[in-house]
Amino acid sequence: MEIIKRPRRLRANSLVRKLVRETKLQIEDLVYPLFVVEGENIKREIPSLPENYHLSIDRLIEEVKEIKELGIKYVILFGIPNQKDEKGKEAYSYQGIVQKAIREIKKNFKDIYVITDICMCQYTSHGHCGIICEDGYVDNDKTLEYLGKIAVSHAYSGADMVAPSDMMDGRIAYIRNILDSEGYTHIPIMSYSAKYASAFYGPFRDAAHSAPQYGDRSSYQMDPANINEALREAKLDIEEGADIIMIKPALSYLDVIRRIKDNINAPIAAYNVSGEYSMIKLAISNGLLSEKAIMESVLSIKRAGADIIITYFAKDIAKMIKEEC
Ligand code: PBG
Ligand code: ZN
Repeated sequence: MEIIKRPRRLRANSLVRKLVRETKLQIEDLVYPLFVVEGENIKREIPSLPENYHLSIDRLIEEVKEIKELGIKYVILFGIPNQKDEKGKEAYSYQGIVQKAIREIKKNFKDIYVITDICMCQYTSHGHCGIICEDGYVDNDKTLEYLGKIAVSHAYSGADMVAPSDMMDGRIAYIRNILDSEGYTHIPIMSYSAKYASAFYGPFRDAAHSAPQYGDRSSYQMDPANINEALREAKLDIEEGADIIMIKPALSYLDVIRRIKDNINAPIAAYNVSGEYSMIKLAISNGLLSEKAIMESVLSIKRAGADIIITYFAKDIAKMIKEEC
């Protein structure tokens, strides 16, 4: 038998493989999450999130310098405040941990783009992402007022982009409107549009001390079984003025990323969350997987359609890309 089509011709060596490679990760695709704490000279590894740290602002600057040298240009900040209360007032305080961190990064680095997460769960004593009404339910419309205050305080402190992760209804329109009326028409909103009630946030909640004290987040985050709903959420967010649509988590939701990419004409982001990271890191450190699992899993997110990938692997990937060159 004569074989005419021989696909292996294009796999014969690394040069030809590179020539026909369909998906390429670039350092510019990556956003690196950072956890900021009050205090001085603190750089404490987060037990559930290997090689990621709780950083006081002085050590944060050192870390940003390091990632900048690796070529990473985008960061997303998470704050861990010293004080929590029912209404999460540290979240919108102008002296809050994130607000101070933004100012300090912007003062030291002109070319680092700072994205902030807009939510209340790290700041509320009950650990939910909004204001609780008498029946224990998260009050949607009341929460919007607080999200608006957080967004304005971040913009005022110098944030380049805000990313609401609370999953309240109408939040994009509310935040867009208040940012515009305060003069921040130029600040884009990256919406956590399809944010699922996922078990893969476990290590983050440990890192951010943000696990709900009772119940779970299923009355506001999405049911993992749904994909049509994800598209509805994304469309609503575009109508409300979102600039970038995010899907979260990433690896168990690659189909959602593809569906939204094919149906929404906007930049698409995916959050490769803490559980997805720690699972692979731990498997590597236990000798179960090789380091190649990192590139393969992050690449799958890009191949699925994500233009922007928020990932704790950003430093690992940046090093791998550098070594390739
Ligand atoms: C806050 C928030 C969470 C994450 C990002 N922003 C946690 C949650 O909703 O419980 C998760 C990120 C990760 O797991 O890496 N709402
Ligand atoms: Zn939250």
